[in-house]
Amino acid sequence: MQRIIAAAAIGLAALTLNTAALADDPVVIKFSHVVAENTPKGQMANKFKELVEEKTDGSVVVEVYPNSQLFGDDKVLEAMLLGDVQMAAPALSKFSRYTDVLALYDLPFLFDDMAAVDRFQQSEHGQAMLDSLSKKGLVGLGYLHNGMKQLSSSQPLRTPEDAKGLKFRIMSSEVLEAQFEAVGAAPLKKPFSEVFTLLQTKAIDGQENSWSNIYSKKFFEVQPYVTESNHGLLDYMVVSSKEFWSGLSDEQRAQVQEALDEALAFGNEVAMQKGTEDRQKIADSGRSEIIELTPEERAQWVEAMKPVWAQFEEEIGAELIEAAYQSNGG
Ligand code: LMR
Repeated sequence: MQRIIAAAAIGLAALTLNTAALADDPVVIKFSHVVAENTPKGQMANKFKELVEEKTDGSVVVEVYPNSQLFGDDKVLEAMLLGDVQMAAPALSKFSRYTDVLALYDLPFLFDDMAAVDRFQQSEHGQAMLDSLSKKGLVGLGYLHNGMKQLSSSQPLRTPEDAKGLKFRIMSSEVLEAQFEAVGAAPLKKPFSEVFTLLQTKAIDGQENSWSNIYSKKFFEVQPYVTESNHGLLDYMVVSSKEFWSGLSDEQRAQVQEALDEALAFGNEVAMQKGTEDRQKIADSGRSEIIELTPEERAQWVEAMKPVWAQFEEEIGAELIEAAYQSNGG
């Protein structure tokens, strides 16, 4: 009997120790992304890790997984809902399975520049869109910029006619699909991690992306031309699952949000710099010719692609499109 009591006491002690250890275990945020570390998103994620661990005194730790190491953008949101990853920042184009409204950001030639994007995102409409995923169990915590998209290709693209019949990789967005169809090209939805090989093996002819992604993923080494079209926006939303987010203590949630806000401001500065620097590095490399459009040539792209707005007006909402368009006013 005594032995049984002793064994029970040891068991109880072990259990208590275990629980104590658990209570002291830090909360782990796995942050998964698909780009290189030397990009606005890569730099932002690393800064976020540093700030979270500092502000929470190590009670919350962040593990950053870049370069699609953990999940590609096609899988990351499902993984988040299953609790396998706690934060990510997919391009706004990659939320189409979860909400219609974010498709707004894919409309070609909607924003004149990043200042207009900022004005819109800080407006009531822009902020309300952060909540657009809530019915699907996701919470939008902030926007991050990369920059305007350019068109890289195996052939020089000066007018929409030049894109006719060419195959372009796109992110998983119906607006982007319609945009390329509008110029008679063939869009293919493919994960970011496959783009370099698709270009290198000439399985596709071109793709659209920011200067930073074209540089850091070496697309310019396998694409002899990049047209400086600035035709669309590459921007991100940092998201978490509602379940994880609401499971944090009030104090931790506030600290993590504060760290994120600071990291996003930093990431947006990196985005500004990279837009200029990485464009210059591509120009200096001599591997890819940068084609600058004349105003007349650009007007032809606008004319060809802008009908896409009407195609998605019902889905996105005419009022929202108008509000975003008006943000160009500055
Ligand atoms: C892409 O898939 O082209 C981009 O969204 C990658 C990224 O996250 O910048």
